[in-house]
Amino acid sequence: NRPIQIIPSVLPADWANMGACVKELEEAGVDRIQFDVMDGNFVPNLTFGPEMIAACRKYCNVPFETQLMVSQYNCETMLESYVNATKGANGEPGVVIAHAEANIHLHRVLGRIRDLGGSPSVALNPHTPFEMIKNIMDMVDHVLVMTVNPGFGGQAYIPTMLNKIREIRNFIIEKNLNVDIEVDGGIKANWTISQCAHAGANCFIAGSGMFAYPTLKEGCDDLRKVAQE
Ligand code: DX5
Repeated sequence: NRPIQIIPSVLPADWANMGACVKELEEAGVDRIQFDVMDGNFVPNLTFGPEMIAACRKYCNVPFETQLMVSQYNCETMLESYVNATKGANGEPGVVIAHAEANIHLHRVLGRIRDLGGSPSVALNPHTPFEMIKNIMDMVDHVLVMTVNPGFGGQAYIPTMLNKIREIRNFIIEKNLNVDIEVDGGIKANWTISQCAHAGANCFIAGSGMFAYPTLKEGCDDLRKVAQE
């Protein structure tokens, strides 16, 4: 069994005080922090670029994760800027997630993320079958199964994604791969996180489900408790 990891998304944070937020998230005991990069093209929302991620680095030591909900990956400098911004406090590889749907050269992009010193990972939108990434499963450290349509926080979890999570878990076991399964979208400290954990996920991204609590520590503790039940 792979360790349970609680990963807040910064989407619901107070962006005018992002440094203070990531520091509070670290103190709350989260395992990683996810930055949702959106370009207004791949998803109908626009968030921030690599400078926001890089600016947060000096406020905490917790590992970062960047989900690239963008339509252009083939720009070398763009990829390098995100890999560098996502690296750890001592230059450790940060998780950089490429969407299968946005990459006609997914194999090349994942290889470049690894070459640039990142931890390459791949995300699947709800409609995308696992079949689409089977041929690159040996190149990634994490598979992110979206349990909402990406672009916004606070949406309803899509339970039919459980079959996809099970399919990926069975493939990882069958091929003896060292890959985490992440879920993201509508995850709360309730049946949503339990269902996904029992189906094989071990990394849980929560935005509204984390920030709804009086303190971030309560949110992190509650999510971790229910995920382990
Ligand atoms: C959705 C983002 C998610 C989102 C999760 O496009 O990729 O990370 O912030 O938010 P909740 O947990 O509120 O669904």
